[in-house]
Amino acid sequence: MITGKYPNLRLRRNRKESWSRRLTQESTLSPNDFILPIFLIDGSNKKESISTMPGVYRYSINRISQVIDRAIKIGIPMVALFPKTKNSLKNEIGSESLNENNLVCKAITEIKKKYKNKIGIMCDVALDPYTSHGHDGLIRSNQIINDDTIEVLINQSLLQAEIGCDVLAPSDMMDGRIGKIRKALDKSGYQNVQILSYAAKYASSFYGPFRDAVGSKGSLKGDKKTYQMDFRNSDEAMREVALDIKEGADMVMVKPGMPYLDIIKSVKEKFKIPVFAYQVSGEYSLISNAIQKKIVNNDIVVESLMAFKRAGANAIVSYYADRIDKILK
Ligand code: PBG
Repeated sequence: MITGKYPNLRLRRNRKESWSRRLTQESTLSPNDFILPIFLIDGSNKKESISTMPGVYRYSINRISQVIDRAIKIGIPMVALFPKTKNSLKNEIGSESLNENNLVCKAITEIKKKYKNKIGIMCDVALDPYTSHGHDGLIRSNQIINDDTIEVLINQSLLQAEIGCDVLAPSDMMDGRIGKIRKALDKSGYQNVQILSYAAKYASSFYGPFRDAVGSKGSLKGDKKTYQMDFRNSDEAMREVALDIKEGADMVMVKPGMPYLDIIKSVKEKFKIPVFAYQVSGEYSLISNAIQKKIVNNDIVVESLMAFKRAGANAIVSYYADRIDKILK
């Protein structure tokens, strides 16, 4: 691999000026590489800050055009919608997930009406924003039950597809859900709805601020270790990805992002399919709070994002996406 040798070979020669460094760069970032998560709340004219995530807000439906306008202007290809459901609407079985007037459905309708196909819409398929216990699936005798959960996820997928969601993103980690959702979508005429599987999703403490943002933190009983992956494992991630591809996933997600760059790289090398990285809430919070406290400077953001591209990610879900034009300048 290494050809040549000092003093004939001096790697610093290519680094000597900015123009030369730009010419020899291996990875690049542009707004096309980003998916912007948007938190939704009920009510009207609301833009609520989230204390653990400086610079990130929850928007009421009538205020989301403010964010979408910006996203389209800077060239972000897709947004991901996450609802903060009122506690009074949560129950054991997450039935609000199947309400055609829930926050996510209302937001999809608004965005499609106003923007047509100028920007893609991605929606999570999982029950945690809707269950009183904060888990992604149904619970029976203290267990998250796989197959019955899938039946609800199928209905949630069909509903979101019908309202106009472009990309369904099952983030629940139940076994076999991709195949069953794909089959149900096809049977109902939604062959063109894409599936982005959260295939390698780890049980992670990096999700803390997100659970704050969607209001599932206080309610979550126990942890998610019986369905999300064990962070000691990487072979298992390859098995998860292989299964989801066989079942019909168009794209796969690795989540969290930065602590799992090795997984992103292996998935890309082994499977040659679109791989997305999720720079999750905890990563965002650590970086943003450290910048605010002047422990590190702003450049850390680009460095953290470029790492995903270097590892082989096609795109990145990031809470920085709405400011990425300024960040990349
Ligand atoms: C829910 C879901 C989670 C995230 C995205 N979808 C949290 C969880 O699994 O508990 C986390 C995103 C983030 O931390 O930014 N299935």
